[in-house]
Amino acid sequence: MWGGRFAEGPAAVMREINASIPFDKRLWRQDVAGSQAHVKMLGAAGIVSVEDAAAISAGLAQVAADYEANGVAEDLTLEDIHMQTEAKLGALIGPVAGRLHTARSRNDQVATDFRLWVRDAIDQVDGALAAFQQALLVRADEHADSVMPGFTHLQSAQPVTLGHHLMAYYEMIARDRSRFHDARARANLCPLGSAALAGTGFPIDREATARTLGFDGPTRNSLDGVSDRDFAIEYLTAAVQCALHLSRLAEEFILWASQPFGFVSLSDQWSTGSSIMPQKRNPDAAELVRGHSGRILGCMTGLMVTMKGLPLAYSKDMQDDKPPVFEAHDLLGLSIAAMTGMVESATFRTVRMRQAAEAGFSTATDLADWLVRVADIPFREAHHITGSAVKRAEDLGVALDRVPLADLQAIDARIDERVYGVLSVDASVASRTSFGGTAPARVRAAIAAARNGA
Ligand code: ARG
Repeated sequence: MWGGRFAEGPAAVMREINASIPFDKRLWRQDVAGSQAHVKMLGAAGIVSVEDAAAISAGLAQVAADYEANGVAEDLTLEDIHMQTEAKLGALIGPVAGRLHTARSRNDQVATDFRLWVRDAIDQVDGALAAFQQALLVRADEHADSVMPGFTHLQSAQPVTLGHHLMAYYEMIARDRSRFHDARARANLCPLGSAALAGTGFPIDREATARTLGFDGPTRNSLDGVSDRDFAIEYLTAAVQCALHLSRLAEEFILWASQPFGFVSLSDQWSTGSSIMPQKRNPDAAELVRGHSGRILGCMTGLMVTMKGLPLAYSKDMQDDKPPVFEAHDLLGLSIAAMTGMVESATFRTVRMRQAAEAGFSTATDLADWLVRVADIPFREAHHITGSAVKRAEDLGVALDRVPLADLQAIDARIDERVYGVLSVDASVASRTSFGGTAPARVRAAIAAARNGA
């Protein structure tokens, strides 16, 4: 490509360190699409003849068909996907192929390809997350009334419903999707025409190229267009946040699937056995979702560190932008699909969940609230009385709603039999009717709102 200036070829290691084709071959669709848009514009603007533009365009279509059929060869002498495509085109249509690179550089070319790729990646993730949300909605609906312990500090706190718990993840994923949408909107500008760094003297039509490629318009500054990768970093930050959410659910599934919890049993499809312990059913997929979140975070950190000290405009360090984005995207795609499968197929052990909810004196707050509402006792005092009632239940080895009335009245005479109406876990969750609360009626309303696109 630069034979005019160079007498000798590169050293073998130079070739190897310089080549990006082993990974950027993944950009071939975007590379061909970018070239097609560019040559269409060159022809329309009269920068190359209409005949040459047509020949190049037909040749590019053949290159694409060849990539589709045979894959992209990892030929290190053709450093990257851009050179690979141009060389293939030359082999097909001869010297006229050399006109394609008029008024562009690999710098604006790779920035364009990569933005197109990230845009597609975001659309894929969005589709996968929508399916995951559907799975959450289905299971939440099924379990809108299923009582389980709600935890703080991983100590039983107050009863909630499983439906409410799953809908918490629905909300997290909704925000993840909105972060990806935001990132997409900012990424969707076209750097092509920025050329190497300074723009070009050819009378190009950047609006036209941008339109052909489905961008909202051209990037406004050529130096910025070729040298920033914030669109990739934004994709990664959104991916990290999403992976962290998936990881928390994965962690809960791991805990819930353990024998002491016994809240969930993962389907055979989403469990693995042990080669030595026949009784084992391991939640490996959930553990890997948890693990992958760390790797995705590493990808984000890696690209940020790559970019942090680079002067404008392009430096070759930036070639290292693609592997972390590809890796994170693959890991995230697997993680979303695995969590979706686990949620869809898990068997929730509702009897066990209910027992656990009843075990931890989880309706103590309901007793305190009752003392405030019915007996008009200040909350701090009610809290103290309730503490004594819990102590009594503990001594008797029974749930709060099994402590005899005489025992409760011995603690505070203002307690009467109506208190039993609030001490069951069902009464507790049913009473949490505030907006966003765990009352089954609220959970159903939240599911209905989600289904209506709220
Ligand atoms: N393979 C390069 C990359 O991915 C393409 C841009 C090369 N530009 C250059 N000036 N050497 O970044």
